[in-house]
Amino acid sequence: MPDDFVKVAKVSEIADATLKTVSVKDGDVTIANVDGKYYAIGAICKHAEWDLSEGYIESDSIVCAGHGAKWNLQTGEAEFHEPLDPEPLYDVKIVGDDIYLRKRS
Ligand code: FES
Repeated sequence: MPDDFVKVAKVSEIADATLKTVSVKDGDVTIANVDGKYYAIGAICKHAEWDLSEGYIESDSIVCAGHGAKWNLQTGEAEFHEPLDPEPLYDVKIVGDDIYLRKRS
């Protein structure tokens, strides 16, 4: 496992269609399980700082529980009625029951 991946959670902690926020050194990250595929995105909504793990998964996005911004898990971009900066994305690796993250450059 390359050093820049960090172990953050267990696969068994994030059931299908659920979200979990973890902390890494450069901030909080929400991990989403979408049909068994894991995505990771900056956790703090750029609108008014709700934790995205309080929202829900819709297709390939997380809908923020705060005011409904829809964050695309593959691009980090939001659909919202006002422009929002994109969220950072993280690469996810699964090794056994462990989930590792690495910030995407
Ligand atoms: S805090 Fe996320 S949409 Fe307002």
